[in-house]
Amino acid sequence: MPNYDLTDEQNMMRKTIRDFAEKEIKPVRLELDRKEEFSLDLVKKMGEMGLFGMTISPEYGGGGMDYLSYCIAVEELARVDGCQAATVAAENSLGIGPIYNFGNEAQKRKYLPDLCTGKKLWGFGLTEPDTGSDAQNSKTRAALKNGQWTINGSKIFITNSASPLTAGVTVQAITGEKSGGKKEISCIIVESATKGFTAKEMHNKMTWRSSNTGELYFDDVCVPEENLLGQIGGGFKQMMATLDSGRLGIAAMGLGGAQGAFEEALKYAKERKAFGKSLSDFQVNAFKLADCALEIEAARGLLYKACWLRDEGRPFGKEAAMAKLYTSEVFHRVANHCVQLHGGYGLMEEYPAAKFYRDQKLLEIGEGTSEIQRLVISRHIGC
Ligand code: CAA
Repeated sequence: MPNYDLTDEQNMMRKTIRDFAEKEIKPVRLELDRKEEFSLDLVKKMGEMGLFGMTISPEYGGGGMDYLSYCIAVEELARVDGCQAATVAAENSLGIGPIYNFGNEAQKRKYLPDLCTGKKLWGFGLTEPDTGSDAQNSKTRAALKNGQWTINGSKIFITNSASPLTAGVTVQAITGEKSGGKKEISCIIVESATKGFTAKEMHNKMTWRSSNTGELYFDDVCVPEENLLGQIGGGFKQMMATLDSGRLGIAAMGLGGAQGAFEEALKYAKERKAFGKSLSDFQVNAFKLADCALEIEAARGLLYKACWLRDEGRPFGKEAAMAKLYTSEVFHRVANHCVQLHGGYGLMEEYPAAKFYRDQKLLEIGEGTSEIQRLVISRHIGC
């Protein structure tokens, strides 16, 4: 029979992170958002909590945890603030993942210890100004000559890539042509201080305003040949495999955000009076809240099962896409109800409802749009 109980360690970790998020993040989340400020102080504290490199082996400085525990941690952060959850999720999966899963021993020893403590952050250089969903069609090129890669091109919307803590980025680049005319795509490690590399912080975001997002330029950037990650020509598959796991983190953000917005909506609906009764006494509102509770429960089941599959070493790509798609769309509906129940106050930035509503939208676009998740699922089911 399936066992739906979390372990004592998982329950304890959830409580510890919930307490941390309530005490340290909640009081500053709206102010950071308003100022579009990436908080070095919170990154330091989250590093001290062991929130970076959670699933990485302790020999590289990681927490050695299972993926479900990691997703519970992201869920609890997102329940309070999607931006801090984004910093953590992007570092764990997109930043650390490629180096841990495809790097050689020297690369792992060089980069992982600082990334796992949050002392340093790392970007995932896939998306380009002209290439989002069609990720194989990227234009950035790398040419190998005299033991050096010379890289030219640009990347955009890269989380954690332009902060004062960013140590580098994994770059997907075209490195040649395969037989049959297909592009040879490889991944290369570029450290932030490399000459010709520029990272510009992006502002005026509608969403995730206190997370760090960068625009990257590679202008004759030269790095040693040994900065190649894994096999030459294996870059696209490395990126795709990284996204499979990354989508679990995004799903955890959808679940946590939906939970946070639901709790705000329920609290307000019980407190606020209209026509002599609480809003929650009106069946129209009670049914809305019941639907939210139902969908959150279903989303949690979907995500935790996908994590369990991954932790068991079974295929999980379809379930990760399903969880990412479903939780982000549940968050959309719950955040919408949350604003609606708040009425005029839902439109004011002094209440967290508006931030949940704005932060939700990223989850239907980042790490593969909802349309791409449907494409991935439809291929898995044989369409
Ligand atoms: N794992 C490993 N290999 C995979 C794979 C996976 N999940 N998915 C595909 N592949 C392999 C295929 O088996 C195939 O291998 P062969 O060439 O040996 O046959 C190869 O990759 C090409 O596969 P497809 O033909 O299926 O590729 P496609 O061009 O049709 O694209 C896609 C597939 C699913 C649409 C993919 O392009 C995709 O996921 N797009 C969305 C990209 C995305 O999520 N971008 C957001 C990134 S986040 C970011 O950049 C910013 C940030 O910091 C948040």
